[in-house]
Formats: sequence, structure tokens, C-alpha cells
Amino acid sequence: MASSNPLWGGRFGAGPAAVMREINASIGTDKRLWQQDLAGSRAHVTMLGAQGIVEAGDVAAILAGLDTIAAEYAQDGVPEDIALEDIHMTVETRLAELIGPAAGRLHTARSRNDQVATDFRLWVRGACAEIDAGLKALLTALLARAEEHAATIMPGFTHLQVAQPVTLGHHLMAYVAMVTRDRSRFADAATRMNECPLGAAALAGTGFAIDRHATAAALGFARPTANSLDSVSDRDFALDYLSAAAMAGLHLSRLAEEIIVWASQPYGFVTLPDAWSTGSSIMPQKRNPDAAELVRAKSGALLGAFQQLAIIMKGLPLAYSKDMQDDKPPVFAAHDTLTLCVVAMTGMVESLTFNADRMRAAAASGYSTATDLADWLVREAGVPFRQAHDITGRAVKAAEARGVMLDGLSDAELAAIDARITPAVRDVLSVEASVASRTSFGGTAPANVRAAIAAAREIL
Ligand code: ARG
Repeated sequence: MASSNPLWGGRFGAGPAAVMREINASIGTDKRLWQQDLAGSRAHVTMLGAQGIVEAGDVAAILAGLDTIAAEYAQDGVPEDIALEDIHMTVETRLAELIGPAAGRLHTARSRNDQVATDFRLWVRGACAEIDAGLKALLTALLARAEEHAATIMPGFTHLQVAQPVTLGHHLMAYVAMVTRDRSRFADAATRMNECPLGAAALAGTGFAIDRHATAAALGFARPTANSLDSVSDRDFALDYLSAAAMAGLHLSRLAEEIIVWASQPYGFVTLPDAWSTGSSIMPQKRNPDAAELVRAKSGALLGAFQQLAIIMKGLPLAYSKDMQDDKPPVFAAHDTLTLCVVAMTGMVESLTFNADRMRAAAASGYSTATDLADWLVREAGVPFRQAHDITGRAVKAAEARGVMLDGLSDAELAAIDARITPAVRDVLSVEASVASRTSFGGTAPANVRAAIAAAREIL
């Protein structure tokens, strides 16, 4: 029988079963928190020294030992011994090897429960900043392409049916709006989570005269968390991160879907460069948008990660339960996935070729300027909109019967449909005239798009 754990085995006669050790260990995952764990320990022991709880010589020895551990892990990685369970006990055991019994003073007025909550908050706060940097790069790419195509005409769709012409710049700016909201969600999450649980101890606080404000400040938190029970049992910060990640992934997936559809031959709106395409092992002509497809697929994993942690948390009574050890895998996996997806999408956006001719031709199809004809009748001839709608419907029917676009009908044919349609109507029947006219705030006119780009750059 294995011997009991040196860090908690005082009351145990025998050690855990092999499978118990295996199910209990989290070192394979939480070693990723080593820098946060060392930072938390430094802040904690420094505070214990300042409060006179641990004497200066021991504080110095502990800090020096932690520095040695940092150098070792940076050089060789974190050793994975499942008998030591997790990153906290791995560090503490190594510290004892390095400096002897003084290492045992580090855990005064602290528990692994507040320790892991602190480490993980620090990590997730850093993850929010990393994603923000990625999203900024994506926005920069979207804005550059939107500017380039502020006046490029494409069909706007509803129900995936050609509806009205829009500009490609305007379409890309819709994604700028989504990604800007994503950034604000991560920023909001980072602000809300910026409270320090350290010093909540196991669940009830501690009788030692600790200074939680000092440790919070040392770790860059705005303040200590207010309630010790909540401090060790709250994982809202991880769920906030995952919900922002799920939403960002959802937006990336919609853009990926458009790229996939636009790159298909019947559309031909975009061409992916070689760097972002893959071939087929059997069909030599194929250029597949695999990266976009995988961004679309991986958004499923991002949505799943939120569910996974929400379901772990939803039945837990206060305060800490070991279930919460399983909070890290979905967050780490989601962060890696989202990081990859954001970079891939940025690369695709930067390097796509937009086929303006195909887009314009598609925009002119499907009677996309019918609304412009109806609006013209309202504006120029004072026709009530519902009646203008009916007149225009008859014009579309006539054009369809002749197999021409609306501007393919002759002046006489138009006048025969309704005498109030004069040749002046031709000014609004082109797709260019249609988009140029849509200058209402938030509308698709090229001038609006340029103004929107300038405003978005301001926020960036
Ligand atoms: N590895 C644990 C986790 O991630 C650390 C906290 C353990 N606390 C305890 N009371 N067993 O949740």
C-alpha cells in the first residue's frame, strides 16, 4: 500500500488506491497555472511577513525558493507526479526540498481553495487580455478590407434570397460591430472578475491578522472579494469568460459560413489564396475552404465548453467541492481553440480575394432594386407606399415575363404599367444608385460606410 500524502496525510494510515490517485490528480492540467501559483504565493508570504505572522528570515527563504522554482519550471517545465495531485502541492513539495521546514510556513492562513480560486482568476484575466489582442487584430483586418470595398456592390440577402444591393464594406462592417461587442464582453468580464479571493482560506476566513487588501493590490486586483464562502466557490469569472468565448465563436462561425458559401462555384464571390485552401486527394480541381469550415465546427466546442462548466457548477452546494477541479479543462481548451480561430479568421480576412464583378452581377439579379422603384413612386409621384408596392410588383412580373432586369423595360412598357412612371425613374434603377441613396444612419451608402470605418477606428 502506498504511503499517505505528506501534505495532508496526518490522520491517514494508508495511502490512496492507485485509481484514487489517478482520478484525484489535476497536475496534468493545472500545471498551466504555475506562474499564477508562484505569484500568489509571493504576494501571500510577503503579506505574512509584513503582518508579523512569519518572520523575515523565513519570508526571504521562501521567496528565494519560489524564485528557484520559477527558474526550474521555466527551463524544464513542471514535473508531473500524480502523487502530489496538483500544482499547489507540487510547488510546496519542491519548496520544502529546497529550503527545508520553513517551507511549511507558506501555507499559514491559506487553503488550496482560495489559492486555486486566485490562481485561476489571474489566469482567466490574462486570457481575456490575450483574446482582446487577437480580436483587435481581426478588427484591423476587417476595417482594412471594408475600406478597400466601401463602394463595392454585392447583393444583400434576406432568407438567403437576393433582397437589395448593399456594399461589401457595409457587410464587413456588420462583423466589425459583432467583434466590437465581443471585445466589450471580454472587457466587462475582466473587470468583474478583478477581485482577489486570496485570504478567504478554506471557506470561513482566518483568525490570523492577514491583510487581504495588500495581497489583492500586489496581484493587480481592484479589491479583495467580499464573502469568503463565495470566494472559494464562485466560478462565475470562468463562465463569464466562456460565455464571451462562445459568443465570439458564434460570430466567427457566421463569418466562416459566409466565406464557405461565397467561395463555392455557383457564388464565386471570393477566392481563397493557396495559403488558406486545401486540395482533395481524388479531385484535382478542388480548393476547399477547410480553415473556415473548422472555425465553423470549433464554435461548437466553444458553446459546449460553457455548457460543460455550467453543468458542473449548477448543483454544487456552498462552498468548495472537488467537482470544481474540473473547471479548468473546458476553459483551457476553449481559450486555445478561440485563439486559433481568431488568428485563422484574421489570416483569411486579410488574404481573401473579393470578386467584385461576380458580386455586382449577382446584386443586379433578382430585381434587387424593386424597392427603389417603389420608393421613387412614393417620393416623386406621391403614391402611397402600399400602392407603389403593388405597381412595382406588376413591373417585376412584366420584366420576368420578358426575361429582363427592371431597367431592361422600355419607357413605354414602364408607362403602360403605371402612367406616373417617367423616364426619370432610370436614375434609381441601377444598383449603384440604389446603394448611394441609402444614406440613413447605419445604411449601406459608401459615404456612410467610410464614416462608420472612421468611427470604428476611433474606438480601436
Ligand atoms: N486541485 C484543486 C482544484 O483545482 C485544488 C483545491 C483542492 N482543495 C481541496 N480542498 N481538496 O480544485
